[in-house]
Amino acid sequence: DGEVYKYYCEGEWRKSASGKSVAIINPTTRKTQYKVQACTQEEVNKVMEIAKAAQKSWAKTPLWKRAELLHKAAAILKEHKAPIAECLVKEIAKPAKDAVTEVVRSGDLVSYTAEEGVRILGEGKFLVSDSFPGNERTKYCLTSKIPLGVILAIPPFNYPVNLAVSKIAPALIAGNSLVLKPPTQGAVAALHMVHCFHLAGFPKGLISCVTGKGSEIGDFLTMHPGVNCISFTGGDTGVAISKKAGMVPLQMELGGKDACIVLEDADLDLAAGNIVKGGFSYSGQRCTAVKVVLVMESVADTLVEKVNAKVAKLTVGPPEDDCDITPVVSESSANFIEGLVMDAKEKDATFCQPYKREGNLIWPLLLDNVRPDMRIAWEEPFGPVLPVIRINSVEEGIHHCNASNFGLQGCVFTKDINKAILISDAMETGTVQINSAPARGPDHFPFQGIKDSGIGSQGITNSINMMTKVKTTVINLP
Ligand code: G3H
Repeated sequence: DGEVYKYYCEGEWRKSASGKSVAIINPTTRKTQYKVQACTQEEVNKVMEIAKAAQKSWAKTPLWKRAELLHKAAAILKEHKAPIAECLVKEIAKPAKDAVTEVVRSGDLVSYTAEEGVRILGEGKFLVSDSFPGNERTKYCLTSKIPLGVILAIPPFNYPVNLAVSKIAPALIAGNSLVLKPPTQGAVAALHMVHCFHLAGFPKGLISCVTGKGSEIGDFLTMHPGVNCISFTGGDTGVAISKKAGMVPLQMELGGKDACIVLEDADLDLAAGNIVKGGFSYSGQRCTAVKVVLVMESVADTLVEKVNAKVAKLTVGPPEDDCDITPVVSESSANFIEGLVMDAKEKDATFCQPYKREGNLIWPLLLDNVRPDMRIAWEEPFGPVLPVIRINSVEEGIHHCNASNFGLQGCVFTKDINKAILISDAMETGTVQINSAPARGPDHFPFQGIKDSGIGSQGITNSINMMTKVKTTVINLP
């Protein structure tokens, strides 16, 4: 029957009292690869209770000691990169090299967070009262940043390790405790990552990791009165969570329909390279993937030709072979992508490559002459299918970009920097990249979406600040 991976509570690995497990299906073989515990609501209650208690003493632990433990965890994480990457290959079909990169990047993120935390949390403000009208200099105000309490972290399947530590490390350095609910696909990689924190020697109960079905413990976790902050990355579920969550700060990174605007004067080789990398890396399963190309008609033929030449070179196959295009995460995801492709077919989009699918593996596909009445013009496939819309003016491109419900990132290719900045100002997205594909990293850059793409801003510094509250003490002089 195979081993069922235990969940992490009170510094121990435990079996759930439910006696049930959740299967993790390998996207490539479509067979059960691993099993994790199906935790119960009582177990969630227990984890919350312990997290609350552990946080109190952790908040009193000197900042430099918290940083030291995080540095230790980062080093252990990097030492464990091979087995964790192996899980990413099996659970989410991430290409072998990218899987290793995810773990190494995560170690770096944890170390950077420790350093940044020491700097920004080691500083406060000092204000005097007589700068505000009517006041004498009789009040001194001291500010510092204090932790929020228990942080609930819910990362997505596409970065189960990196988008977990991007929540865990800022939470911990700021003096919070943390409860992690990993995605089912990627749960074993996440448990292994948690084990690295365990080995580093964090106090018992400070970090917990509960696994299980979203339908059983999802709402229970997000609506739990013990939670003081939710940091979530994922899809539509985030919108539902933000409607149900109580009066707690929310950090939400949700979907995107990142546009790539290509102007007439663009370096078309540079644009084509970035479109292929941005659109097809990890088979398009990134919130920051290029999800629609908006190209000026006069250069469209040349651009499409250059993109197609690069698409032809993409390798397609199993993640173990480090192929560029690997199976998408689930059968339902593949079916959804296929639905978008069929809709575009019925409405006469130009297929630059034949549509081909085997199981969850979908061959890379560029769809040219996409029009706004096609679903793929607006919806995110989260797969290796990229629509091209030909535009006759920059305004038309900006209009399409801003008509989207999403507003994560976007990019513009042009040699005219003034034009690029004007376009960036006009695009209603959290970030605009000039002459490069959208991307979250480097991980200390602010990362945020507007509209349905999210709430708040991430990036190491912003996450630390978001997971703290300002506390002031006012000294009143006689
Ligand atoms: O899927 C969403 C991630 O935050 C994107 O991160 O730009 O590093 O791939 P990335």
